[in-house]
Amino acid sequence: MKILGIETSCDETASALVENGTTILSATIASSSEFQQKYGGVVPEIAARKQAESMIPVLTETLTTNYKLLATDIDAIAVTIGPGLIGSLLVGVETAKTLSLVWNKPLIPVNHVHAHIYANFIQDYHPVIPGLTRDPLIDIDSRFRGNDKKIVFPAIALVASGGHTELFYMKDIQSLKWLGGTLDDAAGECFDKVAKLLGLPYPGGPAIAAQAEKFSIHNSQFAIKFPRPMMYEDNLNFSFSGLKTAVIREVNKLKTMKQWSNETMKQFAFEVQEAITDVLVHKTIQAAKQYKTQSILLSGGVAANTKLKEKFSIFNSQFSIGVPPPSLCTDNAAAIAAYAYFHHKPVDWRIITAQPNLSVEV
Ligand code: KG4
Ligand code: ZN
Repeated sequence: MKILGIETSCDETASALVENGTTILSATIASSSEFQQKYGGVVPEIAARKQAESMIPVLTETLTTNYKLLATDIDAIAVTIGPGLIGSLLVGVETAKTLSLVWNKPLIPVNHVHAHIYANFIQDYHPVIPGLTRDPLIDIDSRFRGNDKKIVFPAIALVASGGHTELFYMKDIQSLKWLGGTLDDAAGECFDKVAKLLGLPYPGGPAIAAQAEKFSIHNSQFAIKFPRPMMYEDNLNFSFSGLKTAVIREVNKLKTMKQWSNETMKQFAFEVQEAITDVLVHKTIQAAKQYKTQSILLSGGVAANTKLKEKFSIFNSQFSIGVPPPSLCTDNAAAIAAYAYFHHKPVDWRIITAQPNLSVEV
């Protein structure tokens, strides 16, 4: 079964054709992040305008340039209906509804946060997809597959993205039970906000990771230790806003004392990455032990973080740990189509609407 996935929840415009939920035949992604950089975050109006401009070229590339397709080759269309930015979601949803009507294809509405998890089940990559080549991190990623151990159910899934930090229990590939999530800022949001404070570009996660890499513990002038909010609490929730506040306080203190330097900034990047990744790893392992699962599935933009993957790899002998390649951790349409394959519940296009506040709790 070939499903055309469409994703426009934030600043990406993406479409992908996926076979049987696991094989990408064609995929295209356009991002407005370079236009957003000077504002230090996503400006919804800019994102939606760029998506309106990019949607048709992106679809054309997926359906013609990479892979010669006819509408008759497509079995269903899947689209992100939420959660996300309303203007952005509308572009994808209205496009998908139009295609469903014109081509007379079933339309499957998808919760974007749940779909992130399904990037873990994509195994094969069509070799000619630009922008989806396996980058060098895939070598590390294959290590995380737990020495060729297969993902077995039940599993715990962590979605850590710019808008969400959520834990799910999966009895099997089709069932999701929400266990807990962030009470305030998401992990990616914390990376993005701290990056802005440190004068680093958007998106903040990769920028902080790059600065943290350059930090040498031998050059540290101060002992800085940020809190690990809620890490030892007996629940599966997260909170990252206190961490952000702690960083603001320390930055302001050092700036007032005229002790802020480029080296201090790198140390802050390093310490913040340590704090966020410690909490994510600890809570996910706690969930896996509590629910007695053998597998852990990581997803969402923050799962592209190398330090996070290194910390999870320590548990490789206890759990089979899956993480998609970085291009499938961040927003993409292949995961939307993969999810739709495993949750094949078409809905009449007339009643599908964009739902910016769609709940992730199931
Ligand atoms: O899943 P995603 O592309 O979009 C949302 O659904 O939000 O996640 C974007 C988030 C941003 O906050 C970005 O800073 C973060 O993922 N991110 C990373 C890395 N790459 C992207 N965070 C840490 N390390 C990375 N390498
Ligand atoms: Zn996302």
